[in-house]
Amino acid sequence: MPLITTKAMFQKAHEGGFAIGAFNVNNMEIVQGITGAAAELQSPVILQCSAGARKYANHQYLVHLVRAALEVSDIPIALHLDHGPDFATCKSCIDGGFTSVMFDGSHYPFAENIEKTKEVVEYAHAHGVVVEAELGQLAGIEDDVNVSAENAKYTQPEEVEEFVSKTGVDSLAIAIGTSHGAFKFKPEQCTRNPETGVLEPPSLRFDILEEIEKKIPGFPIVLHGASSVIPKYVKIINDNGGKLEDAIGIPEDQLRKAAKSAVCKINIDSDLRLALTAGIREHFVQHPEHFDPRQYLAPGRDYIKELVAHKIKNVLGSDGSAPAIMELAKA
Ligand code: G3H
Ligand code: 13P
Ligand code: ZN
Repeated sequence: MPLITTKAMFQKAHEGGFAIGAFNVNNMEIVQGITGAAAELQSPVILQCSAGARKYANHQYLVHLVRAALEVSDIPIALHLDHGPDFATCKSCIDGGFTSVMFDGSHYPFAENIEKTKEVVEYAHAHGVVVEAELGQLAGIEDDVNVSAENAKYTQPEEVEEFVSKTGVDSLAIAIGTSHGAFKFKPEQCTRNPETGVLEPPSLRFDILEEIEKKIPGFPIVLHGASSVIPKYVKIINDNGGKLEDAIGIPEDQLRKAAKSAVCKINIDSDLRLALTAGIREHFVQHPEHFDPRQYLAPGRDYIKELVAHKIKNVLGSDGSAPAIMELAKA
């Protein structure tokens, strides 16, 4: 089975009330951890590379790592460019084996975002590649663009229909209160649950999501900045010499609710970083004499596998859907 686009994945996700996990990859252990979990659970996955990942690991290494995972795991995999900053980067990925690209024009004025997105869509579609675009801006750090929480711009439902029809995009990333990174909310923005003692952040704007769904029924929606910042991995990091204070993510019940809606793709990077770091830190504290990278990277890879299995089963709901997606993709 070759790499596939996200078309069949999104169709099945929409019909089945689940979402596909889009996991950021930068090296072999991350690819293996994610696809190991997905293969065991018969789940499709989107492996995505940012411009920073391509700079770090080199485009060819990433493409070949993902192709190797495909051979070994035999599940539906799409290879996606995350936050493509310009036409040239998108073209390079389209020409270089990716099956999906995101052009992120969210920081441009509406008309310019349409114009630039359309240029990418025309080139991508001519080469059998699908395109994700973004309307609205997430709070936090989005690659080089720093949008302060106060200026976060939710997606305007009245703009989505025109944007989708004029650009011809295949999926749309929206801003409804998620943000990138492991520090999504300040503690003072949260309320403490009197029963559990856990800090609960403000709810995602499901009202905006519903409005958007009404404007573009059945159209695949994407959630960026959707790590839940699992306390277990933050605790392991902090118990083993790390210092991550007030790391707060999106509650998983809200992500599950989103996955059952028109949200077909949920982006996760920070949770992978935390799991990998937890495994490595814990190993070094337990084995200060070790210096073989295989010894300390393996536990990081194991935690990634554990994390991704949890996401697939309890957050995304995509387990067991691989065979149907493979059939649809072949058709
Ligand atoms: O949304 C951004 C992703 O987490 C990728 O981050 O640009 O540091 O690779 P990066
Ligand atoms: P997180 O930082 O919440 O993992 O978001 C990742 C993301 O949106 C990648 O595009
Ligand atoms: Zn993102």
